[in-house]
Amino acid sequence: MEKGLNLRELTIINEVAKILSRGYEFTKSLEEVLKVLYSFWDVRHSYVALYRADLKALKIVKALGLTEEEIERGIFKKGEGIVGKVYKDGVPAFLFDIKVSAYLNKTGLRERLEDKESFIAVPIKVGGENIGVLAVFKDLGQESVERGVELLMIIGAMIGMLYKLDERMSQERQEWEEEKRLLTKALSEKYSVEGIVGRSLAVRKLLDLVERVAQTDANVLITGESGTGKSLVAKAIHFMSKRKEKPFITINCSAIPETLLEAELFGYEKGSFTGAYTSKKGKFELANGGTIFLDEIGDMPLSLQPKILRVIQDKEIERLGSEKTIKVDVRIISATNKNLRELVSQGQFREDLYYRLNVLPIHIPPLRERKEDIPILVDHFLQVFNQRYNKKVSFHPRVIEVFTDYPWYGNVRELENAVERLVILKDGLIREKDLPPYFFANLSTSELKNIPQVIENTEREEILKALEKTGYIKSRAARLLGYTLRQLDYRIKKYSIQLKRY
Ligand SMILES: Nc1ncnc2c1ncn2[C@@H]1O[C@H](COP(=O)(O)OP(=O)(O)OP(=O)(O)O)[C@@H](O)[C@H]1O
Ligand SMILES: [Mg+2]
Repeated sequence: MEKGLNLRELTIINEVAKILSRGYEFTKSLEEVLKVLYSFWDVRHSYVALYRADLKALKIVKALGLTEEEIERGIFKKGEGIVGKVYKDGVPAFLFDIKVSAYLNKTGLRERLEDKESFIAVPIKVGGENIGVLAVFKDLGQESVERGVELLMIIGAMIGMLYKLDERMSQERQEWEEEKRLLTKALSEKYSVEGIVGRSLAVRKLLDLVERVAQTDANVLITGESGTGKSLVAKAIHFMSKRKEKPFITINCSAIPETLLEAELFGYEKGSFTGAYTSKKGKFELANGGTIFLDEIGDMPLSLQPKILRVIQDKEIERLGSEKTIKVDVRIISATNKNLRELVSQGQFREDLYYRLNVLPIHIPPLRERKEDIPILVDHFLQVFNQRYNKKVSFHPRVIEVFTDYPWYGNVRELENAVERLVILKDGLIREKDLPPYFFANLSTSELKNIPQVIENTEREEILKALEKTGYIKSRAARLLGYTLRQLDYRIKKYSIQLKRY
């Protein structure tokens, strides 16, 4: 027998070696190897089967010249048939004629093959351990069987190397992912100014604006839906300004009745009204040198608006029940989730005051218009609440996806609350199925078949509870649930709820 490799064998090995250097993903490498055998050795049918612990069998992972069905049928138990034996014993096998009974024909390929094609199967080894089998069907013609088997043994060993390489690379890929995660985290910290987290263009613009606005003394009006971060931004402006050592005083104009609000804002002298047993400084006085934050300015009563205007114009106030004017130096930041311009046109808000407050407008877009911020905010809140509650809760990437799709009509506050609740109630890795059903309300049923069931179950339970609570008086239960009687009746039928009689 000829010694050493002939030119054709060398070419084949060289071609496979090239695949090694390309760093393909493993199955792609396999495909390339089988193609080399086809192009340079005329192997028209071949496959690689790997052992799968979950199946307790070998399964074809890549094939050439096999139909989908043939590939699917290619499952070989350890020790069963030729392929199973090659895997079990780690020695190659050669069958001159696949018509013999030892060949189990699991794939069903035999029917399509010409009589001349022999079957060669060699083990694929990684570090002395068999991981699978390389099988080819080939008309050897005048070629030596031993040489053919030997060549395939070498290719089998090279496939083992490809496998090992891929393992190492996927580990590297994982490390790289981790690095990327840490980097994003570092970036998120960089993008967080005074606790404002985000990386969307909208937030970066906002931060830039906040920084510039903080350098000035001009009045700022912050607008945006509830929970978008208006109060947070107001605070940030103050603490980035030269007034930061001086007080930051907040007053919520909607929470306080009109008469009290006036006293709160401007203070009062002893005896100025019933119950004024002492004198008291107002918020404007307290904020002297610093910033006053008029939250929900849209609810500022019309009667008080001229007084605010006066503070802005003359920089002075008088306490209730006092003639004495007091000089105050305050920067005014106000915020509203209402459309102030509309209130002006409806006569509910003074136009002159509107322009005085709105020297520097800042608008914060709703969270659903800057979805890129959601993952980074989730990370941020997870960190905050894990620390606060001494837990190690994390979210599966699918959860972040669900969060990103959810409309968050309560904006960042709603997101913050959702994360906090999950951190308190759950442990470890939180998956999609751990989320409350309302997150899935606007996903299509085909996407999440089991979710409507969850919602229905919740609804059924709520109806049962309401019926219990109202002694099974349907009209009352309907009212409690916010349904009409008809709607409730429909659901009682739908859920076949038994109406108990007492
Ligand atoms: N960009 C952000 N980064 C980090 N936390 C944020 C961000 N935006 C908002 N938050 C947090 O979300 C919550 C709601 O924000 P905030 O109270 O400032 O909203 P708001 O617009 O003032 O709401 P409302 O109109 O109801 O007063 C707060 O706990 C705030 O810290
Ligand atoms: Mg607020």
